[in-house]
Amino acid sequence: MRTLAAALTVALATLTLSASASASNLINNGYEDLVVAISPSVDESNAEAIISSIKKTISETSSVLFKASRQRAFFRDVKILLPKTWTNTSYDEAALNENFEDSEIRVDARNVVYGDQPYTDQPGGCGVPGRYIHLTPEYLTDDAQAAWWGPRNKTLVHEWAKLRWGVFDEIGYPHDPTFPLFYWNTQITADGIEDVVIPNYCANHDLTGELMDIVSRGQCSFKSGFPDENCRFLPSANQDATSSLMAYYYINSIVEFCDTATDEQFSHNSLAPNRHNLMCNSRSVWDVVNLHSDFANGANPPIAALTPTRITVLRQEEAKFCLVLDYSLSMEDSQRVVKLQRTAQRWILHEVAQGSSVGIVKFWGTATVTADLTEITDQASRQNLANLIDRKLGSSTSIGAGLSLAVNNVLVGQKNPVIVLVTDGEENKSPYISDVKDKVIDSGARVVTIAFGDKADPNLESLAEATGGKTFTVVDTDDGGMLDDAFLGALTYQPGDKLTDMKVQIYEYEYEGKLTQLNETFFVDASVGRDLEFRLDTNDVNYVTSAPVLARPNGTQIGATSFDSGINMWIISVPLAEEGEWAWIAGLSGGSNKYVRVGVTAKARDPETMPIYTRSWLSDTEDVDATVNPIIVYAEVKQGNNPVVGARVRASVTQPYTTAEAVELDLLDNGQGADTQAGDGVYSRYLTVYSTTGRYAVKAQVWDDGSALVNNGFTTSRKRHPRSLPAFPLDTPTYCCGSVVPVDPELATPTGNFTRSASGGSFRATAVPSGDVLPPSRVTDLQTEMKSPILTLTWTATGDDYDYGIVSGYEIRLSANRSQLLEDTFDSAENETLLLSLEESMTKPELLLEAGEKVELNFTIGDKMEMDKFYFVALRAVDDGGSVSLVSNLAAALSSSPPSEPEGLAGWAIALIVIGCLAAVAAIVGGVFYAKKKDLF
Ligand SMILES: *[C@@H]1O[C@H](CO)[C@@H](O)[C@H](O)[C@H]1NC(C)=O
Ligand SMILES: *[C@@H]1O[C@H](CO)[C@@H](O)[C@H](O)[C@H]1NC(C)=O
Repeated sequence: MRTLAAALTVALATLTLSASASASNLINNGYEDLVVAISPSVDESNAEAIISSIKKTISETSSVLFKASRQRAFFRDVKILLPKTWTNTSYDEAALNENFEDSEIRVDARNVVYGDQPYTDQPGGCGVPGRYIHLTPEYLTDDAQAAWWGPRNKTLVHEWAKLRWGVFDEIGYPHDPTFPLFYWNTQITADGIEDVVIPNYCANHDLTGELMDIVSRGQCSFKSGFPDENCRFLPSANQDATSSLMAYYYINSIVEFCDTATDEQFSHNSLAPNRHNLMCNSRSVWDVVNLHSDFANGANPPIAALTPTRITVLRQEEAKFCLVLDYSLSMEDSQRVVKLQRTAQRWILHEVAQGSSVGIVKFWGTATVTADLTEITDQASRQNLANLIDRKLGSSTSIGAGLSLAVNNVLVGQKNPVIVLVTDGEENKSPYISDVKDKVIDSGARVVTIAFGDKADPNLESLAEATGGKTFTVVDTDDGGMLDDAFLGALTYQPGDKLTDMKVQIYEYEYEGKLTQLNETFFVDASVGRDLEFRLDTNDVNYVTSAPVLARPNGTQIGATSFDSGINMWIISVPLAEEGEWAWIAGLSGGSNKYVRVGVTAKARDPETMPIYTRSWLSDTEDVDATVNPIIVYAEVKQGNNPVVGARVRASVTQPYTTAEAVELDLLDNGQGADTQAGDGVYSRYLTVYSTTGRYAVKAQVWDDGSALVNNGFTTSRKRHPRSLPAFPLDTPTYCCGSVVPVDPELATPTGNFTRSASGGSFRATAVPSGDVLPPSRVTDLQTEMKSPILTLTWTATGDDYDYGIVSGYEIRLSANRSQLLEDTFDSAENETLLLSLEESMTKPELLLEAGEKVELNFTIGDKMEMDKFYFVALRAVDDGGSVSLVSNLAAALSSSPPSEPEGLAGWAIALIVIGCLAAVAAIVGGVFYAKKKDLF
């Protein structure tokens, strides 16, 4: 019970995330500032059709949403954001601060995993908002696509529920080990107790439909008592059910969510093994929706009618940056001002895009405008700005004075304003951040905060959060890499380029020491190579005794093409770098407190090749209480829009005290613990090791150790047959994806040697766990295989602290009655259900493996199982601090060899009667779909 309570607290604590500035707000029942952004990768030639479809879809979705939310929410005000590259399409206004990266609904090119299926990127847990909804231009403009995947308005409500409220699909997926298409349960009938097989869904009335083998288009075959992998449940077009929008939402009558209310009308199927039940501990969708701040405590009570959605078409403008830099005396410490000067100059000289504008404000006890907003047009404009950044400091700190000048003077009236605030101290002179925060928010400026050292003001994170900005931290031992990353983080507010024109960091290197020559190598992989730029810089120009020389894979040497004496940086440009191992050499003088840093960037090899790239982020940034709300570190690895699987991803977590070693964390894409889906190219892990309260910074490194593959598609999910063959009233699309994104090894391509890195930003912990208080994560992939008399269990080992370390043991239970193996009955289940006790498991070393490894365990089943009967198995992990995990998924096993195919299925056209969510039982007319009939009395 203790862990259940903890899990609920986690879910509730994370709900507050939904109030972030980039998410739309629900005000008096209407969502406002919802942004539907079109990617620069989308071809402008179809602009009119795309925009008109978005307008129509959004307006219609608003009414469907209003009904589904029981008249509590609709879309009042929506913005369509056109990319800056769309120059021939008319729009209503220039965008203020809307951008693609923060938008909630994105129109972007299709990817191989989903094709044209709309989906929500949702790596978080129950109640945690998703990242975005993805729609393809084809889905929006081709009516055949909408007819196949589901009507646009209802589809969007289905996805909106995931994005906004953190609920999940209530269906199964083909071949999925955790979320199968069918499950079984016992049913009490006049004849006694019967085992029945049921399609995996939630609905408030029986769904009628058919079972069909999608290959033979005939009757389904059975394996181990279950319909085989080609068997599908095809619901009829006409149904009595009105829920659930998280299951068969495309059926006309289905307009609501399942609910556990006493009213049977809105029942919930807590037994169906689907993602929603697993993630949300079998709470109904409506229960979870009601916990969201949109509706909690009676917020936004029902209203009589909605108003039409106001839709404005915007186009993104060039970014207007204002650097707001701390020049208080403490910036002298640890050479902070020296590093700031070099980094800011480097950023202005080499990083900011042409067309963006930059202004500079310096503050100490007061503030001054060092540079008015200046457009970056050429190298001279860069140099003039960079020259204005000096090192003259003043006393006291008034952050509010700097911010105030930025919004009231430098950025006043500007579109796409971004403030980059760098500070090392706590404010001690008014105006304070709190005095000017509202003005900053009103101005629309995003604030990127960069905290220097651990004494920087504690209000920085909340300022970034409130303005939809970002937050970074830089420790004093940093040679400039962290500060560089933070400045680079601000550049995502520049209008985006096509992926093929994006600059990708492919190599990073730092050296501080006594060697007199550096002789190193890096890889240029097949996905990149155009406009390669090699840069080497140093904090002391005399440290580098011979300028860097680059060598191609064939040995040909290339010398420096330019040297920037202001920031001691050599640059070597290569228009098209061939794939392979490149080498570089530089001579050094040796010496202490001197360093060199090398960075290599490149673009996609050619306009047809998508680059491999990575992004990293954190589950939370502001005032994190890590004892109840553990931080999850994420890194996404993709080639274009396709997931890269099997890559090595290591996050380095810098600790608040600079003397503490950084914590290294291997992120995994195995669908376990923090990772909600295997193979989607999002690698995740709980951060369980904390040294103290304060700011933690995260950086992810990605590389190939020989097993990284690009998922280029898989036939099962993409195979499409026409929606309506005459004989089939309602065919069903195969949705992607459940617990695992499939990979077709024939189509997948090895990435070859590559390296990438990305900053994940930082977070500030206000409380950290001490002692062993973090419980093991729940096991979600328990599976069984029965080869009488051996029952084999397999699962992925969970960890001592969430998904990290080694547990002390597992408690495993087996029962024919699934109700005995649920979270609140597991403890009180009868003794004979115990398959393996905790004490016994502690003596089995083969069970106690590192989190993420595969466990396999055999039992010889004697008296514990009757023949020809279905059983359930579930387990729970315990750590040495006595904390227990949630109960695992239920795995089913039939205690005999598979029965022969059920008789009497006269083709596929036999009607299936499924009796509601509440009872959650199913049968086929005539009982032929019973996996096994057994009379126990
Ligand atoms: C299954 O277990 C539950 C809870 O222990 C109990 O209430 C129910 O009667 C059991 N069902 C059968 C068929 O034994
Ligand atoms: C479990 O039993 C199967 C045969 O049913 C065997 O192949 C496998 O090696 C056994 N596994 C372990 C861990 O003993």
